Amino acid sequence: MHWKLGSVMIFCLASCTASDQGDAPQASTKGMMADHVQPTAEVYWNAVQYISDANGSREIIPENEAEWQRTAQAAQKLKQLGEDLKLTKYAANKGTDWKDFAQGLVDAAGQAEQAAQAHSPEKVLEAGGILYNVCSACHEVYMPAPGGLAPTDQSNPITSE
Ligand code: HEC
Repeated sequence: MHWKLGSVMIFCLASCTASDQGDAPQASTKGMMADHVQPTAEVYWNAVQYISDANGSREIIPENEAEWQRTAQAAQKLKQLGEDLKLTKYAANKGTDWKDFAQGLVDAAGQAEQAAQAHSPEKVLEAGGILYNVCSACHEVYMPAPGGLAPTDQSNPITSE
């Protein structure tokens, strides 16, 4: 008896979550971006920064193995998210170029991962720029209201944390 009740509840949990997100593919893309793609990309982008301000110039780079790992893992996760974007639930009702953009994310994230594994701040910075261009390219075509096109510069209060 117990196991049966358990599996029914698990099933309900899964289907309830799915219906909460609605059937609209765009709705789930939005959530995926806000909850996973953006925060993961930020981990990567924040890892290496050259800052020049009133206090002069300084750089932020990963300081130990754990921080390089974290950077590489963010890239790895972005690669997986790019793969996920090719799934029907995101790709439905999109043009054929959708999967090209998603593959672009996979490729850029793969390059980003290698840069982090090479422990090269310059390469991480460069790969971060390429990554950014991939985000923007897809947004230019598929974002309903591309306000400024800057993924990190969302004025929408729902996305700012
Ligand atoms: C394959 C296409 C595609 C790629 C690649 C892509 N995005 Fe998106 N992104 C979208 C679409 C479509 C939306 C709009 C979703 C909506 O509002 O329905 C979006 C929306 C967003 C949003 C706004 C979410 C919100 O709450 O309104 C952020 C932030 C974002 N993307 C970040 C990124 C970042 C960062 C990258 C790159 C690392 C990226 N995206 C790569 C398709 C893509």
